Amino acid sequence: MSTRVYLFTAILLIFSCKPETGNQFSISSPNGSITLSLNLEAGKPTYSVMVDGVPLIRPSALGYQLRGIPDLVGPFSVRQKAENEIEETWSPVWGQEKQIYSHSNQLKVELVENRSPNRSMNLFFRVFDDGIGFRYEIPDQEGLDSLFISSELTEFNFAENANCWWIPADYNSYEKVYTRSLLGDLLDSLHTPLTMETPKGHFISIHEANLTNYPSMTLKPSADDSLKLICDLVPWPDGDKVKAQVPMLSPWRTIMIGSDARDLLASRLILNLNEPNRLDDVSWIKPMKYIGIWWGLHIGKETWVQGEHHGATTENTKRYIDFAAENSIQGVLVEGWNHDWERYGQDRAFKFTQPYDDFDIAEITRYAKLKHVSLIGHHETGGEAPYYDEQLEDAFAFCRKYGISAVKTGYARTSIEPIGETHHGQWMVQHYRRVVEMAAKYKVALNVHEPVKPTGLSRTWPHMMSREGARGMEWNAWSEGNPPSHTCILPFTRLLAGPLDYTPGIFDLEFNQFKPDNRVHTTLAKQLALMVVIYSPLQMAADLIENYEGQPAFQFVRDLNIDWDETRYLKAEIGEQVAIARRHGEEWFLGAITNEKERDLRLPLDEILDSVMVAECYTDAGNTNWESNPYPMLIKSYLASPSDTLRVKMAPGGGLAIRFRPLHAHKDKFPSITDLRRDQFVQNL
Ligand code: NOJ
Ligand code: CA
Repeated sequence: MSTRVYLFTAILLIFSCKPETGNQFSISSPNGSITLSLNLEAGKPTYSVMVDGVPLIRPSALGYQLRGIPDLVGPFSVRQKAENEIEETWSPVWGQEKQIYSHSNQLKVELVENRSPNRSMNLFFRVFDDGIGFRYEIPDQEGLDSLFISSELTEFNFAENANCWWIPADYNSYEKVYTRSLLGDLLDSLHTPLTMETPKGHFISIHEANLTNYPSMTLKPSADDSLKLICDLVPWPDGDKVKAQVPMLSPWRTIMIGSDARDLLASRLILNLNEPNRLDDVSWIKPMKYIGIWWGLHIGKETWVQGEHHGATTENTKRYIDFAAENSIQGVLVEGWNHDWERYGQDRAFKFTQPYDDFDIAEITRYAKLKHVSLIGHHETGGEAPYYDEQLEDAFAFCRKYGISAVKTGYARTSIEPIGETHHGQWMVQHYRRVVEMAAKYKVALNVHEPVKPTGLSRTWPHMMSREGARGMEWNAWSEGNPPSHTCILPFTRLLAGPLDYTPGIFDLEFNQFKPDNRVHTTLAKQLALMVVIYSPLQMAADLIENYEGQPAFQFVRDLNIDWDETRYLKAEIGEQVAIARRHGEEWFLGAITNEKERDLRLPLDEILDSVMVAECYTDAGNTNWESNPYPMLIKSYLASPSDTLRVKMAPGGGLAIRFRPLHAHKDKFPSITDLRRDQFVQNL
């Protein structure tokens, strides 16, 4: 097992108490900055949160509304409580760093109803220095077997109004542009992560961890208190929210807390609230850069359906394999390789063991192996998850047989047919997990599109590598597109939950030959920057390979590594600008992006460098602008020393990418990085 876990659990205190009422219990984070209190006012449980002595969350309800039996809301007494400290350092199979530290204080409170039927419910609270997690347990008990939860009553009752970045709670999609508004002005239910900035300078993100056999949590504004949000679980078609068997353990409700937006980016709270890796052998799980027969399908150059312009032909796939092999790209995705794309939307479409006859899978997989390139398969279900379930074993056995090491799955439809479920309800959470388990059995990694949101399960199932669950690049191909600010919000919202297959790296930003009315709303330099900023262990260079031929900027993609020893967050303003540096071995890769505003970015290099390095810079030129002049780029190498401050212009909708590599020789060949900004403008002359 490559994940080494060091776990020190110190049981500090176990109290056995006689049932009592009116109790308050508090627990603080290891550094004492965050305190959570559980109150049982007249036996009704509420929790509240203070940060540095300032109230962040006012008393907020806990409990369950149940169908057919009395609600689990109290009055309760405390049967027993226990506190313990959990400290561990663990090594993810892949990630933004090689080691993750987790330190929290846990409070477990066992509640029992004061009156018949005297049912019990346990609450777990874990308080970290970067936030809180809490969950419910309905333990094994006499007379309680099945539970039909009609509402989880968890509240988040904020102490102050705050800025919120949010997307609406569409039960079938997270593919939305974010809105920024005040908490007190919210009218719609929202998806999580919901990210907030309070007037007192706290940054908060509400989400959940370890979503297992339970529906996704959305948040709805309370009708009677404008600063209160209430958990609103995605329902089954019959209105139940959760159909559970006792014992039942809920996902963790999570509140990330920081005093700087960078604290949110650095938090590993969600992963730390998940179970350790369950796979013995992880040697087959490999982070990859990949290209694919994909963007051409979205811009209309090629088709998924077999025919004159079919993308997934043997010949075209070999062309992609050749390009990958020649350009340090490890994977090739192929969409449209299987029957029945012409029947999309009809019953029992898509066969996952039947290639179209112009896709010679035996020959293609033989060729890929010869070239040391991994083929990434594609299982588009068209939202017919039950039909996929029927084929699941065969589908993954087929991948294994042909050496297909990863699969992208898809559920592109506005509901799950034919059963009328939604993408984010409990049935689909169970379905997605069945796929994870089957993929593990056949040693195939996953990249899930139209998924349920990530909740840190990749710690437990590290082959669950990436997913969509956001408005990705594809929207630029066939809609009004993603505004320049979109990718400056994603790191602080969706990406806090886990890796995102955004599919950056488009070089022909306008693709006028195919879709003159659509385009990508960035500069070219920002496309490179996104490959660093948007973390994914499966990172796509998404453009047609012919658009990379002869492009000096593609050298950055060739050189880019995507499995990181450490990550540092240098600049973080939600929706405005982000700069992230990631280290692999001796090399650092820096990506910085801005929204539609031009920026004069300054970064002291002692935040990342220990010694003089060569900085290979890919920046917007002085006159670059995403709207009118997106391509000009300055590509030049400099000497960068820790005492230098990087000063660089980011164009409107622009960004920059830098590879810092060790200086082995030819020290005097390069100018100083302090000349970079001037050179951006010289380039215009
Ligand atoms: C939607 C996915 O997000 C996209 O990447 C894929 O190409 C299409 N569905 C077709 O499966
Ligand atoms: Ca999609």
